[in-house]
Amino acid sequence: MNPTPPPLRETPLLNGATILAAVLAGAIFVADLVTPRGHGIAALYALPLLVGTFSGPPRFQLVAAAVVSVLTVIGAANAPAGLPVNYVLTNRSIALVLIWATAIVLARFRATWLDLQARTKDLADVNFAIDQSAIVATTDTRGRITYINDKFCEISKYTREELLGQDHRLLNSGHHPKEFIRDLWVTIANGQIWRGEIRNRAKDGSLYWVDTTIVPFLDHRGKPYQYMALRYEITARKTSEERLREQEALARLGQMAAVVAHEVKNPIAGIRGALQVIASRMPADSRDKPVVGDIIARLDALNGIVHDLLVFARPRQLRSEPVDLDRLIRNTLHLLHRDPVFANLEVDFPQGEAVGPADAEQLQLVFTNVLMNAAQAMGGHGHIDIAIRRNEAGSRREFVISIADRGPGMPADVREKVFEPFFTTKHRGTGLGLPIARRIVQAHGGEIEIDTPPAGGTTVLITLPAS
Ligand SMILES: Nc1ncnc2c1ncn2[C@@H]1O[C@H](COP(=O)(O)OP(=O)(O)O)[C@@H](O)[C@H]1O
Ligand SMILES: [Mg+2]
Repeated sequence: MNPTPPPLRETPLLNGATILAAVLAGAIFVADLVTPRGHGIAALYALPLLVGTFSGPPRFQLVAAAVVSVLTVIGAANAPAGLPVNYVLTNRSIALVLIWATAIVLARFRATWLDLQARTKDLADVNFAIDQSAIVATTDTRGRITYINDKFCEISKYTREELLGQDHRLLNSGHHPKEFIRDLWVTIANGQIWRGEIRNRAKDGSLYWVDTTIVPFLDHRGKPYQYMALRYEITARKTSEERLREQEALARLGQMAAVVAHEVKNPIAGIRGALQVIASRMPADSRDKPVVGDIIARLDALNGIVHDLLVFARPRQLRSEPVDLDRLIRNTLHLLHRDPVFANLEVDFPQGEAVGPADAEQLQLVFTNVLMNAAQAMGGHGHIDIAIRRNEAGSRREFVISIADRGPGMPADVREKVFEPFFTTKHRGTGLGLPIARRIVQAHGGEIEIDTPPAGGTTVLITLPAS
């Protein structure tokens, strides 16, 4: 739990300052009595007044002034007999004026001082309250971080030392276009408040969204001398918004897929059949035969795309049963080895046993997509490492299947988008392989992640529940 800010302390009536003031006043009184011609001594009564200015109780000055006034008058009554009355009266009047003038000035000063203290305390309390709820940072005009609160460190996963003096670019996730950032800077540099939603990247690479308000603090010429950013995390909201958008898009895609299935798939099957008939009637040495073969291959590719689209847009219910994942992957590999891109690959996959609840047919699609990507990334030559690891995360038992290739890996901007439907960097890609894989794995209660190890290549990690 966080500590609350310290409360404002009340000054006790009798504290060090009052005691010291009393002792001083007493000493001056005695000195006044025993010094026969020490007429100026009464003026020293201003001293005890000073003592309590910072730490005395409220209205200290006025009470103290009254007390020392009385002492001054008593002192006057004890004046040596030889002194003219006029002289004594003048002397004591001056002392009293001095005492009261000091008291009034000090009382005013003290009131201001207390007010300042209360305001400082107010400010500290407001700061504290903001720190409890918001992610706070201040930067100088060049964008270098000059202050961050604990929440900032928590969410960004950087330590304070790593962030202070750094530029906010350290947290840039590359999501926002240059114009977005430029607009932000132009706004705040002109002394205006900027509001918006920003996606940042934490030290561990994870992404988070923050609702951000940046307030420029202006100097006497109206120019900003520092910026304060107040942020609130909205990652959960953003994720659910994104999911909603995805679902809406999928629903539309589903409708479209139904049309495509009917209007495209069937004619393709018809054309393909007719072409096969034509090809079979051609003489064996006909020069047109390869052309027909090529057309059929293209039609098959088209069919594959339509099929992917249908699988993606209209996922079917899982039919879960105990599945030996090790065997399922070996079967998939066996089937894939018939594909030319796979023919020259070496696969390293130590034998193991891993049985979990799954829909074998759907999972096969996942492994096919991931393995095909690996093979394509390496241009059909190279090495794929597959491993299944058992993991116990609390009460949850799961399998982590890693499929690692030694291809070119993925640049950050590609890696960020690979799960978006239709994102592809390939000439004839559909961009649906990984989105389909993720769909299926998530339906199993698992997760699929991409890792690009520093040593190179791409590793796909698929986590599936063990039981
Ligand atoms: N093993 C990998 N190595 C490098 N890039 C990959 C790998 N797997 C996927 N990708 C990238 O992710 C993109 C999307 O993959 P995917 O969804 O399977 O669609 P597609 O294979 O049709 O392009 C690919 O175009 C490629 O850029
Ligand atoms: Mg693919």
